[in-house]
Amino acid sequence: MFIRNCWYVAAWEHELLGDTLMARTILGESVLLYRKADGTPVALDNRCAHRQAPLSLGRKVGDTVRCMYHGLRFGADGRCVEVPGQERIAPGLCQRSYPIVQRDRWLWIWMGDPARADESLLPDTFSLKHPDWAYKPGGYLHYQADYLLICDNLLDFSHLSYVHEKTLGGSTGIAEVKPRIEKLPHGLRITRDVRNTVPAPFHTRLASLPSVVNRQFVYDFTLPAVLLMHSHVKPADTADDDMAGALQFHSCQALTPETETSTHYFFMQAHKFRQDDATIGESLYQSLLVAFGEDKQMIEAQQAQMRASPERPMQPIPADAALGQFRWLVKQRVDAERAAAPAQTVAAPTGAPARQPA
Ligand code: FES
Ligand SMILES: [Fe+2]
Repeated sequence: MFIRNCWYVAAWEHELLGDTLMARTILGESVLLYRKADGTPVALDNRCAHRQAPLSLGRKVGDTVRCMYHGLRFGADGRCVEVPGQERIAPGLCQRSYPIVQRDRWLWIWMGDPARADESLLPDTFSLKHPDWAYKPGGYLHYQADYLLICDNLLDFSHLSYVHEKTLGGSTGIAEVKPRIEKLPHGLRITRDVRNTVPAPFHTRLASLPSVVNRQFVYDFTLPAVLLMHSHVKPADTADDDMAGALQFHSCQALTPETETSTHYFFMQAHKFRQDDATIGESLYQSLLVAFGEDKQMIEAQQAQMRASPERPMQPIPADAALGQFRWLVKQRVDAERAAAPAQTVAAPTGAPARQPA
């Protein structure tokens, strides 16, 4: 169902401060997130190996965590280091641990074979932490929908004209433009040039713009579900390479499946103008919250109808090209992982069997 051998965003860095023990379900697995004293993030199976109580209801003890049901204590590598009243600990008594790294301001988790967790595969989310770009962190929405429906939405910006008529869109011109779709090794690059259009309502809250502008969106949408986008708006009567009067943005967005029908959505949109003016970041943040709420309302309603009538077919149109290609990429990877190493990629603990006789 899900691609496992890839990095997913698990949390914003500030969600995990101090002695926080956080439970977050990812790909249907309840995961415990916390930090060691030196700040290194840790991700463990949240079900205690003893009798499945949530470790997130436990207590941090140094870099270890104690299950507060019967007191077993586990290290950051998942191994049990203490069983109250018992001297010998079976070597197989351990929690599954997941590779997790912090890159810029996001924590990324690897849900597949730990031996294949390669940090060089992390996407380049440079604008999350870059002196030329500013934004308000913390963008997050929880969706009651299959993450693939949200991928569909992000792979076709024609919906800006309709779902976001009064926020990010402002004109039917966006839907009328045919995007350029290019293949990438692990996804697609989509370019949409919208010329001689009007500024979007969210633009007009940021700056005064002429009534006729050009807008451009260029984004990579890569596996498992990460969008990295440069976009801008600028006066229509300026040369293409003249960015002096442009409002430039860079957006990082990541979808992490929670279950088959629910999704964590992490997002931000940075700006490269008036970076010292916090009202710009605040305005963008609020605009995105409202606009992404519009997507959420539409997609969750779509999901509910699909659930009620799963047999009803979808009627494709040419504008679905990117959606179809991306879903094909997802299927290829899921099928390949299943065929290659089902035992490794499906929830195998890193240690020996996680049970000890009573
Ligand atoms: S369930 Fe965790 S110690 Fe018993
Ligand atoms: Fe949208």
